[in-house]
Amino acid sequence: MKSNRLRIKGGVPLRGKVSISGAKNAALVLIAASIMAKGETVLEQVPYIEDVQVLIQILQKMGVQVRWKEDRSLSIQAPDEALTIQAPQELTRKLRASNLLLGSMLARQPEAAISMPGGCDIGLRPMDLHIKGVQALGATVSIKRNRICAERKNYHGAAVYLDFPSVGATENIMMMACMTPGESMIENAAKEPEIVNLASFLNAMGASVRGAGTDVIRITGVSELKAVRYAAIPDRIEAGTYMLAAAATGGEIMIENVIPQHLHPVIAKLREMGVIIQELDHGNLLVYAQDPLRPVDIKTMPYPGFPTDMQSQMLALLAKTPGTSMVVENVFENRFRIIDELRRMGAQIKADSHLAVIEGRPVLHGANVRATDLRAGAALIVAGCAAEGETIIEDAVHIFRGYESVVEKFRGLGAEIEAF
Ligand code: EPZ
Repeated sequence: MKSNRLRIKGGVPLRGKVSISGAKNAALVLIAASIMAKGETVLEQVPYIEDVQVLIQILQKMGVQVRWKEDRSLSIQAPDEALTIQAPQELTRKLRASNLLLGSMLARQPEAAISMPGGCDIGLRPMDLHIKGVQALGATVSIKRNRICAERKNYHGAAVYLDFPSVGATENIMMMACMTPGESMIENAAKEPEIVNLASFLNAMGASVRGAGTDVIRITGVSELKAVRYAAIPDRIEAGTYMLAAAATGGEIMIENVIPQHLHPVIAKLREMGVIIQELDHGNLLVYAQDPLRPVDIKTMPYPGFPTDMQSQMLALLAKTPGTSMVVENVFENRFRIIDELRRMGAQIKADSHLAVIEGRPVLHGANVRATDLRAGAALIVAGCAAEGETIIEDAVHIFRGYESVVEKFRGLGAEIEAF
């Protein structure tokens, strides 16, 4: 039975080197997109995490050959004929990113059916923008027994305006439009680095995607894509998590394999707090936090704003930064569940659904806490490393969903942490 708890003895300044893995939120969409290509796709920098394993199982049950190769790359080969349209519900409920099969399946075959996806408990996570997008491209969509069933008879290029720059909706529309005859355009598109990584991957396969990383993405549909070898970008959220852990423990660490530009919103805020960050060559960052830190205010926004996926970790850091800080969560409607857990550790935080006011304290104390979702769990490791005494984190499986070798990596930085 895999361990589901972590024990941390805090108060140790983190020191040493940590190497960042491929981005979960890039790898998942590259895996979903791979089924659009004829031949064997080989993906590098795919992190060995639970969410990737679940998506692999889903694809295998739908008739796709997926296997890890000796060099730790991932081989994906879809059959020429149509895939089973029914992704197994017991698996798709575990993984919101399974919703990305909607666009990649409609790109390669006339029918797709996915269950209303699960994932973190951080808000409603609707699919209205995904559905609006594929309908604009000619799919008819019906909701049957908690499943989204789509079929395209006469599909055609179209312009889609996204009311919110949804990452997943942008990705689904991009994938379907790549193999939909005619010209398509996505306005108010998401601009995350993972969107650019997907667009580059699709273009390498022979697609015609222009403007990824800006508000407007234009796509000319093609009839076939060929399989290629490609790499996921480094995980900016994993990197940011280790940066905050170094800041929260007054440590000094070297982070390898990052793209600094993807971390600028986080780097800017940490520098505002007084953390010294040096962007070295070859994608290395030196993070150094010796002096007392200053409180800051955070507003989460779609990229290039401060990432919502770093919000929980920031609450943990600010809880231990003397002074008054404010955090506004503008992306999800229920992403403050970690606050109750931080309060058990002595944090002084007042919050409503979107605003948290933190009275930072010089000391947090260890406690028994529970990971409510992936990033909250990672934030509790940050808090546990910074706190005095012992912290036990229950439901640590949430963390293993998205952080490769997290115990080994924190231990490599000197943290006293074990899974049990
Ligand atoms: C992706 O989720 C990421 N997941 C999330 O990371 C990340 O927090 C999020 O983007 C925002 O950056 C993956 O890439 C696998 P959204 P996604 O669609 O695509 C609303 C993590 O911790 N919305 O950009 O599901 C939605 O309710 C995870 O790694 C609609 O209203 O996020 C939310 O409020 C958590 N209608 C907002 O948009 C829709 O049809 C952002 O959602 C779709 C979304």
